[in-house]
Amino acid sequence: MVLIKSSFFINAARTFRNCVPRCDPVKESDVVAFAEFLSKSSKLLMVTGAGISTESGLPDYRSEGVGAYARNKKFVPVQYQTFIKDPDFRKKYWLRNYLGWDNLYSLTPNGAHLAVTRLERNDRLIHLVTQNVDSLHIKADTKKVVELHGTSYRVVCLSCSFDIDRLRFQSLLAKHNPSVAINQFPLNPDGDVDIGEEDYKAFRVPDCPDCGGVLKPDIVFFGDNIPKPRVQFVNDLVDECDALAVCGSSLTVQSSYRIVTRAHNLKKPIAIINIGKTRADDLVSFKIDAKCGQVLPAACDLILGSNYVNLDR
Ligand SMILES: NC(=O)c1ccc[n+]([C@@H]2O[C@H](COP(=O)([O-])OP(=O)(O)OC[C@H]3O[C@@H](n4cnc5c(N)ncnc54)[C@H](O)[C@@H]3O)[C@@H](O)[C@H]2O)c1
Ligand SMILES: [Zn+2]
Repeated sequence: MVLIKSSFFINAARTFRNCVPRCDPVKESDVVAFAEFLSKSSKLLMVTGAGISTESGLPDYRSEGVGAYARNKKFVPVQYQTFIKDPDFRKKYWLRNYLGWDNLYSLTPNGAHLAVTRLERNDRLIHLVTQNVDSLHIKADTKKVVELHGTSYRVVCLSCSFDIDRLRFQSLLAKHNPSVAINQFPLNPDGDVDIGEEDYKAFRVPDCPDCGGVLKPDIVFFGDNIPKPRVQFVNDLVDECDALAVCGSSLTVQSSYRIVTRAHNLKKPIAIINIGKTRADDLVSFKIDAKCGQVLPAACDLILGSNYVNLDR
């Protein structure tokens, strides 16, 4: 039997932190060049990464000075094998995730997410491929989205087809852990928070109600594979598009780097908007080192006009 402490509080810390790395304001000539790039394309494919969400308040992994690796030299993203094999790790994972959920759930899309939706509504975009699991593109109402690495907004069973919305799962966790107080913490990139070593063993995580299996967020953790049909779908998009734009990704992760190399091999025009280096800088002729939240809305205004009528549709 799991013993629950009468209550455990984990001290409140600063809830908000700057997540955006330092950079210069975008040059007008760069915005004009990116707007030209967009306007030449009628079948644009866009790939986004954690960098597009930093202006919404969610840290990324590799931003200089403010990303998870810069803040915490010991930072290790969740590994699939550890989650599968280690029940203690899973308990701690779910407690950290439980405590971070309210903050993650309350994040809102920024101007860059909204600009992507504008492009879609004006038939400029064939599809969006995001590496993010934060659902901010869905909240911004972009419709054609592939979540390459899954989503934090759904929980699945590892043994059967059961799934549950993350919001409902939060209520279940609350029901199982009435004595755990949720205080406000600064969010980590994985939507969780830092806690001490001591408290997690009392945390109770329900098993799958259908088969008793292990429940996991519907995220492709490091060391796991992206489902093959999803990879094939993205490959087909790369083949179909007439241009590729990458926004807010270091492209360190192989699955996103492969999208760019495939487009490069097919001689598609490629543009990158990213603060700092990416793994594909040598493959592209056009790179803007500035905030997505500055470049995307400004370029959209240039090609679509500055009123946002289409966003109300
Ligand atoms: N938001 C999320 O859902 C989230 C957050 C962290 C990590 N992840 C996962 O981790 C992996 C990390 O790879 P990645 O390439 O997406 O992230 P990354 O951390 O490797 O790279 C992000 C890049 O974006 C740049 N950047 C940060 N803010 C920016 C801004 N406002 N405008 C322009 N550039 C900005 C950074 O300098 C960095 O080079 C992904 O697979 C993703 O699934 C997801
Ligand atoms: Zn099950």
